[in-house]
Amino acid sequence: MVSSDLLLQVCFWLAGDLRTSNYRGLVSGYPKTVTVTESSSRDGLQSLGAFVPTEAKAGLIDNLAATGISTFDAVSFVSPQWVPQMADGAEVISAVSSDVKLIGLVPNMKGLEHAADAGLKHVAVLTSASDAFSERNINATVDEAMHRIRRIVLEGPLDMSFRAYVSTATHCPFEGEQDPDWVAHLVETLVEWGVNEVFLGETIGRATPAHVDRLLDDVLDRVPVDRVGVHFHDTYGQAIANTAASLARGIDKMDSSAGGLGGCPYAPGALGNVATEDVLYLLDGLGIEHGIDAEAVARVAQQFCVDNNLTYNSRAGRALLAAKADTL
Ligand code: HMG
Ligand code: MG
Repeated sequence: MVSSDLLLQVCFWLAGDLRTSNYRGLVSGYPKTVTVTESSSRDGLQSLGAFVPTEAKAGLIDNLAATGISTFDAVSFVSPQWVPQMADGAEVISAVSSDVKLIGLVPNMKGLEHAADAGLKHVAVLTSASDAFSERNINATVDEAMHRIRRIVLEGPLDMSFRAYVSTATHCPFEGEQDPDWVAHLVETLVEWGVNEVFLGETIGRATPAHVDRLLDDVLDRVPVDRVGVHFHDTYGQAIANTAASLARGIDKMDSSAGGLGGCPYAPGALGNVATEDVLYLLDGLGIEHGIDAEAVARVAQQFCVDNNLTYNSRAGRALLAAKADTL
């Protein structure tokens, strides 16, 4: 028989643990730790007309690495005719001095060759839920894009890791709302083909948590949660809500962009990625570990925006910097 004293003790112990963030996360189904991939030097800059110098791109990665970020959606190896801003991918990689995981986006075998020549061990490949977007983005139907991916994974170096993006995973700018079951089928196929992780790209920022939940119902029915990541744009101000909805489903991998920089040149009207600072503030509130200093990210991103004449777009970052200024 358990004494009432002991029961009381256990209740106090549990209550104390629930107040500490990690345990709270576990109890509610959130992951205990997450990996935040920083996309500002790639998705954040790819749509800009004015060329950001190579040293500034590499400096952004190095300065953000110093805040604790360890994984970067760093550059892309795409056609310089299509996306001139990303023409210096190899130079950026060799100018980065931090010891971090650098991922290069590759749309085809040529991109894979360039990424391997630049010494990268991690690449991201691209498909989409909709033909209309895929054709505009990479000049290939979804079927063609999937076959390109299969070839890249089969013929890529054995020690290379592969991330795949399924863009327009909930909405396409040209075809409208997408079928979650179709997206889940693409994700499952990619995992079967040996892709290490598949990121659901909410390219135009139109989804709400209801869309995300519906999509994850189908995706997580078919593949384990540890193979899935999310990539949200913030056009309709839903990206942080969508991040929270994904965390509640156990998703522990997400992209974000310092200062909310970003957009896709082939998705008209799509605004920036969810801001890294906003995601970190959410994670801190939920007691989920990430290893990054949110205020330091805000400082780096705000300075980068000033230096490059860009708009700084993180609400949490602005508030963190204002609160810091008040205490000085
Ligand atoms: P294409 O014109 O069909 O290519 O473009 P091609 O195979 O016919 O070749 C034409 C020329 O391009 C040739 O050169 C190739 O060598 C060259 P030429 O003989 O005329 O001198 N070429 C390349 N050069 C450098 N790198 C390459 C490459 N491939 C061919 N990899 C292609 C097809 C895929 C190249 C083009 O459509 C392209 O570069 N698209 C990239 C579009 C892009 O970067 N979009 C943004 C990234 S996706 C995104 O942001 C979404 C994401 O964030 C998730 C989300 O939000 O959903 C990831
Ligand atoms: Mg994107």
